[in-house]
Amino acid sequence: MEAFLVLLGVFLARAEAANGRLGAYDVGGGGEGMVLPLRVRVRMQEVEAPANKLWFRHNVSLTVPVAVGTPPQNVTMVLDTGSELSWLLCNESYAPPPLPPVFNSSASLSYGAVPCSSPACEWRGRDLPVPPSCDMPPSNACRVSLSYADASSADGLLAVDTFLLGGAPPVPALFGCITAYSSTTAANSNATEPSEEATGLLGMNRGSLSFVTQTGTRRFAYCIAQGEGPGVLLLGGDDGGLAPPLNYTPLIEISQPLPYFDRVAYSVQLEGIRVGCALLPIPKSVLTPDHTGAGQTMVDSGTQFTFLLADAYAVLKAEFVNQTQQLLVPLGEPGFVFQGAFDACFRSPEAQMAAANQLLPEVGLVLRGVEVAVAGEKLLYMVPGERRGDGDAEAVWCLTFGNSDMAGMSAYVIGHHHQQNVWVEYDLQNGRVGFAPARCDLANQLLGAGA
Ligand SMILES: *[C@@H]1O[C@H](CO)[C@@H](O)[C@H](O)[C@H]1NC(C)=O
Ligand SMILES: *[C@@H]1O[C@H](CO)[C@@H](O)[C@H](O)[C@H]1NC(C)=O
Ligand SMILES: *[C@@H]1O[C@H](CO)[C@@H](O)[C@H](O)[C@H]1NC(C)=O
Ligand SMILES: *[C@@H]1O[C@H](CO)[C@@H](O)[C@H](O)[C@H]1NC(C)=O
Ligand SMILES: *[C@@H]1O[C@H](CO)[C@@H](O)[C@H](O)[C@H]1NC(C)=O
Ligand SMILES: *[C@@H]1O[C@H](CO)[C@@H](O)[C@H](O)[C@H]1NC(C)=O
Repeated sequence: MEAFLVLLGVFLARAEAANGRLGAYDVGGGGEGMVLPLRVRVRMQEVEAPANKLWFRHNVSLTVPVAVGTPPQNVTMVLDTGSELSWLLCNESYAPPPLPPVFNSSASLSYGAVPCSSPACEWRGRDLPVPPSCDMPPSNACRVSLSYADASSADGLLAVDTFLLGGAPPVPALFGCITAYSSTTAANSNATEPSEEATGLLGMNRGSLSFVTQTGTRRFAYCIAQGEGPGVLLLGGDDGGLAPPLNYTPLIEISQPLPYFDRVAYSVQLEGIRVGCALLPIPKSVLTPDHTGAGQTMVDSGTQFTFLLADAYAVLKAEFVNQTQQLLVPLGEPGFVFQGAFDACFRSPEAQMAAANQLLPEVGLVLRGVEVAVAGEKLLYMVPGERRGDGDAEAVWCLTFGNSDMAGMSAYVIGHHHQQNVWVEYDLQNGRVGFAPARCDLANQLLGAGA
């Protein structure tokens, strides 16, 4: 009920003209659609990041509450439209301190390890650098291995259990039950508070083992609030016109596999980048996947900021710096790079930046059929712990667009920071992604009031 109120609030606040349409939404109906609170959380650090993802550079994630097993155990999972296999931490001895919450598989009656003779154990997705393998006899479980950017690795079993999201009936789904973790470095002393950490990840891409595919979800949508307040996740079903009017861009499919093209990602076509009124002079070839598949554009809730290939990034950076000459003071430290990929940085006291934010030129990611516009405070991120000037009066701010090449990536990635206050719908049925500006903070307020 509380969850329903949240969605109702979003709806009423934004679309009051749509009288009567709310009745069309079957709230209680099993499988008709359900609503969950979505939170921006400080994530565990590199512990949970596969090598082919960029998350290890970011510590902020979107999480949803999920109940897993019988009887249900409450866990918090990162919502990741860029990953396939969901996973949970399963072994209480697994994690470096401070301990994150763990799923106790032996306490669940519906838990089962997948045998290695199962077809599911032959799966080879992009999430796994090595294919699943058979466990040591006498066990015949299917072992999965994830490797991490810092040369550490996580091992576990392919398993099945029931997942409960919102008020919907439990659905069985395969996931990786991570039981062992080994690291080449000491336990991460900079890990964040346990209460803020996630127990696992909900893989939401289009691959065969993703949660979306396994549960036959044909549509889902979310609205991420600005700041750390809750937004909403709407899974499945017909929303009965509750969403704001959306503009859609088609999902890109390629017929032949290419080495650098992720075919199960939510891939869209970037057609241009705008700064203020100026459409940047970026050749179409730079924005389109090449013969290796490099250069696709992905919508990814599992990455925080947005990344552009070097050629496009350089043009954006130059134009942004040029257009903000009167507003922003460049940091002027050529060696300074935030998170290995963000080098368009500035220095300013917080109050001055708050004023400047209102005057910054908007940056638009022009997709086929829709534009994702980034304005105001979403454009610049204050780098934690960096101060400059007399009495440390100034903070360091970096443009929230990064250089993919510097980060070792070969794709454009639209991260969740730029999806704040945007209603984003993944419409698998029709092969498209929809966007519309929205007031996701109103969902936040209502959830607070209803808790
Ligand atoms: C799990 O969460 C639900 C909803 O917040 C709550 O009612 C329930 O008591 C929780 N269960 C446990 C075991 O903490
Ligand atoms: C996990 O569940 C088993 C079976 O209910 C129980 O014996 C064990 O103590 C639990 N472990 C933890 C860490 O709660
Ligand atoms: C849990 O992790 C510890 C340490 O990595 C390992 O020794 C133990 O075998 C694991 N337990 C299971 C059930 O995998
Ligand atoms: C923790 O953070 C401090 C300061 O940012 C840094 O110097 C240190 O190397 C970090 N330690 C680890 C294990 O990441
Ligand atoms: C900045 O923009 C102005 C006006 O568009 C242009 O004349 C000038 O060449 C630009 N400067 C740089 C360094 O790009
Ligand atoms: C992680 O994110 C939080 C919230 O944005 C920030 O306060 C904190 O300093 C960040 N930690 C690191 C190590 O970047």
